[in-house]
Amino acid sequence: MKYINKKLTIEKINFQKIAYKFGTPFYSYSYFKLKENISNFKKSFRSFSPLICFAVKSNTNVNIIREIKKFGLGADVVSKGELMMALKAGIAPNKIVFSGVGKTSDEINFAIDKKILLINAESLSEIKEINRIAKIKNKKVIIGVRINPNTDAKTLNQISTGKKENKFGVNKNTFYEIINYCNNSKNIDLKCLSVHIGSQILDYRPYEKMLKTVSQILNKTNHKFEFVDLGGGMGITYNDKNKQLNYKKYNTAILKFLKRHKVRIIFEPGRSIIGNTGTLISKIIYVKDSGSKKFIILDAAMNDLMRPALYGAFHKILPVTKSNKKSKKPYEFVGPICESTDKFITLKKFQVLKERDLIAICDVGAYGMSLSSNYNLRPKLVELLIKGPNIKVIRKRQKHKDII
Ligand code: LLP
Repeated sequence: MKYINKKLTIEKINFQKIAYKFGTPFYSYSYFKLKENISNFKKSFRSFSPLICFAVKSNTNVNIIREIKKFGLGADVVSKGELMMALKAGIAPNKIVFSGVGKTSDEINFAIDKKILLINAESLSEIKEINRIAKIKNKKVIIGVRINPNTDAKTLNQISTGKKENKFGVNKNTFYEIINYCNNSKNIDLKCLSVHIGSQILDYRPYEKMLKTVSQILNKTNHKFEFVDLGGGMGITYNDKNKQLNYKKYNTAILKFLKRHKVRIIFEPGRSIIGNTGTLISKIIYVKDSGSKKFIILDAAMNDLMRPALYGAFHKILPVTKSNKKSKKPYEFVGPICESTDKFITLKKFQVLKERDLIAICDVGAYGMSLSSNYNLRPKLVELLIKGPNIKVIRKRQKHKDII
């Protein structure tokens, strides 16, 4: 995205023109950014060619997954719905891993029938259930076990998953117990150790620590693992002040790990692939002066983009038409929903905005649309994929008749 003649553009197309054509609010994704992210990700780890499984939960649009598939990525799914979507997008079953603490019997059944690469189990009970179903089907099912390394990912508390108080994975004693159980089962083939410590991680050191813990755990067993699935979590720069994750250091730590353990690495990145490709364009409905600040009331709301309301997450806001006039009062950007948390951000300094102006909410490609809802009976937004001069509708705007 850049400004051309004071107009914000995406791949050289003026956002204002897109808004005229498709209405607001809308989600747009840059194809070239997506391509660049995937290529950078691959380059960062090219010395050991990992299997990269896109975390579908971050963006469930079938057309986005289709594009990602064309670059050779697999999928990480956490429900039957996501598994069906990944298959619909054409991802080969042998590139799909299924994570999650609460897979139902129906989901396990489905995953076994589809012959996916791995079911990453998160408890002994789940493994017993997989075993029971596999026995009925007279099949040997390949699984992974997710361990909880008790590592602080130094990210938002709400999206940290690798500490012992979190519900995810099993501790090392249970892990060894599970290895024994699997070795005594004819229907289970334990091939993978998996781990995922959290999301939006910008410091490589928690990853380093996680690898040390995994290495120690592996050293204490003779079981031969074919894969180690390191999950995702690589953070992006939402804020210009954010530091960037040092991929070089993460890569070095993995290479060191691979010297001791001959395994294939799997990654499950979501945000780092799709996060900065997405922009939410919204129109200002009203500007309300409340004395000390002005409310900029947008046509987009927390149901369209939950992250600020749910985690206090920061998303940069840009004007679609730039001007040099500065506002005298702080601006609070809010949506029309009947909740006080329906607020995107308060900015002390911003250019003067008026009713009907457009603004861009940045870096919403991950956990934007996928976390959206119909709260307040608001229809879901249209999604557009911008590829050079072409604009493709990759999901139609919902109509009221679809939800009423
Ligand atoms: N693998 C597993 C097992 C996960 O739980 C997750 C994310 C990922 C991979 C992908 O993580 P990523 O590379 O995208 O960080 N809704 C929150 C993020 C929740 C992440 C949940 N798990 C947000 O909007 O920040």
